[in-house]
Amino acid sequence: MIEEVIVSKQNPVIGLATGSTPIGAYNELVDRYKRKQLDFSKVTSFNLDEYYGLDPSNHQSYRYFMDSNLFNHINISKEKTHVPNGLVNNPNGYGREYDELIEEHGGIDIQLLGIGRNGHIAFNEPADELRLSTHLVDLTEDTIEANSRFFESKEEVPTKAITMGMGTILKAKKIVLMAEGEQKAKIMADLISKDQISTKLPASFLRLHRDFTIVLDSKAAKYL
Ligand code: PGA
Repeated sequence: MIEEVIVSKQNPVIGLATGSTPIGAYNELVDRYKRKQLDFSKVTSFNLDEYYGLDPSNHQSYRYFMDSNLFNHINISKEKTHVPNGLVNNPNGYGREYDELIEEHGGIDIQLLGIGRNGHIAFNEPADELRLSTHLVDLTEDTIEANSRFFESKEEVPTKAITMGMGTILKAKKIVLMAEGEQKAKIMADLISKDQISTKLPASFLRLHRDFTIVLDSKAAKYL
């Protein structure tokens, strides 16, 4: 699906995610580039989120993740890759600028997403209300716990992040949510089998989108 967008658009804009789930897709994109099957020279990318307070050179930053898992291995020019800047002083003003920049590029053609075991997408955590635009957010205890596997200790996990909002994500023309492993089985069953949307399950809003695809492995599909 990503390849289809890249080959069919003049100026493809792809929305990218971090975490363990998309790594297989990124490896596949790198392989296709190396086999000269796929050219990224016209591609612009926007990432979903970044930890607040982490320098891009920090090995736990999402900028570092994207460079080392994808961008350094394909012919995308770094100026065309956008990951929210976790060091800005005015994150909410910056968030509006980030959304405007996406619009100026004609919007996101395909947005890749993982899902948190609590149902978050990007860092839009379950809450009474969800934000539309890119903004600063406090991470939940569950997310800090889940992400601590990438840090030396739980105390080192940043407590805030800049994330695309629900409106930013839902404006993408095509959305692909990927989930793998048994730890995602319960939330995927909730997402797929309930005839409901709820701010307590942010991913449920994706079901309002006209072009939304879910890709699961058999473990994540265990309760379906
Ligand atoms: P994961 O993270 O791919 O590492 O499971 C997904 C998420 O928290 O959105």
